[in-house]
Amino acid sequence: MSILSFDGAFTEARFDEPLLEQLEREGTEHLNDLYTQPDTDGVKGWLEPMADGPAYRHMLEKAAAVRADADVFVIVGVGGSNQAARAVIKALQPYGDKPEILYLGNTLSPAYIASTLARLEGKSVYINVIAKNFETLEPGSHFRILREYMGRRYDKAEMAKRVILTGTYGSRLEEIATENGYTFLEFPVAVGGRYSALTPVGLFPMAVAGIDVHALLRGGQAMKTALRGGDPSAVRYAALRNACLRNGFDVEVLAFFEPRLHYFAKWWVQLFGESEGKDKQGIFPAEGCYSEDLHSLGQYMQDGRRNLLETFIRVADPGSSVIVRPDSEFRDGFDYLDNKDFGEINRCAEQATIEAHTAGDVPCMTVDLERIDAESMGALFYFFMVACAVSGQLMGVNPFDQEGVEEYKRSMFRGLGK
Ligand code: PA5
Repeated sequence: MSILSFDGAFTEARFDEPLLEQLEREGTEHLNDLYTQPDTDGVKGWLEPMADGPAYRHMLEKAAAVRADADVFVIVGVGGSNQAARAVIKALQPYGDKPEILYLGNTLSPAYIASTLARLEGKSVYINVIAKNFETLEPGSHFRILREYMGRRYDKAEMAKRVILTGTYGSRLEEIATENGYTFLEFPVAVGGRYSALTPVGLFPMAVAGIDVHALLRGGQAMKTALRGGDPSAVRYAALRNACLRNGFDVEVLAFFEPRLHYFAKWWVQLFGESEGKDKQGIFPAEGCYSEDLHSLGQYMQDGRRNLLETFIRVADPGSSVIVRPDSEFRDGFDYLDNKDFGEINRCAEQATIEAHTAGDVPCMTVDLERIDAESMGALFYFFMVACAVSGQLMGVNPFDQEGVEEYKRSMFRGLGK
């Protein structure tokens, strides 16, 4: 198996061949245009994962310095500005590893902010504020709170060492970095937040958390080479989603049996939700963290309204082994599990779920990984970003804007007197 493989066979069989052929043909054209047409709107910078060079090495040097000295590293960002880093860190950072990674700039809850600040007390604190426009309320306001907090604990020189800002060149964030001697990292202007996983936006915090970002980029690059070289998987996934939508399936559940992928699913939900949900179009993206959610969503998935499609991320190598030992004393009724490994039990549940949901008329697709590691996550990011760009265009929407999110902000800003 390559790092990632896609299988839509169960779902392909449901639809007319001419419809699928037409969608795949159009999808392939969109894919080719992505790579070959000029980037007139300035939205395609993400197609090229960050390359080795002075900016990359500077980023890694700073990350190593932070990692060596920080007890706590606070990522301040929201939406596309924190999701990819959080997805990888939550999946891969070993338990108890230092620095502890905390998240701010992604809520307006005073209880959350206060409890996060309390966790900084007495610790060596570094912060990374990530904002493309530096107009978003949550990261902007939390940067203020953190400046005040850190200003009480550190002098200006220490602050300069401990504050890293990631923004676009020419932004107010860059000016603040220059005025105060803070480290500044580039948020490439031709990359939207939700497409920024393989840029300094995602890579710097991951590197601070000890993630092998070379491997992550290798995975992204390998996926890019494959897709550019004619691997049809991302186009096929995009085409099948669109065939589903045209046949009334307008909710997609990203399902997985590894809870480590929960924050990856949040990234995926944002990617597809913000990219496709416009002009009264789109598939509503949702998450199924199984087996837990089989005990909540499972009934609906099996037998509720038939507007659901389901994409499973399957992982071959469970990464750990836990054996159920025989226990004759308690007669608990679970002897059928004797000597079985949870890897085997989990896989059996996964296979049974795919079969049951397919039989229950849910179009199911699978994305297979050998294991969850930095390389495979890099490939996953790239695969879904390309699939999403193609899928949105097949729906006739612009997958790179997000005008809709401005609506609530306008009335919130009125309420706050902006
Ligand atoms: O994907 C997107 O473009 C958005 O989700 C943004 O990332 C999010 O709104 C945060 O924007 P900013 O980085 O400008 O604060």
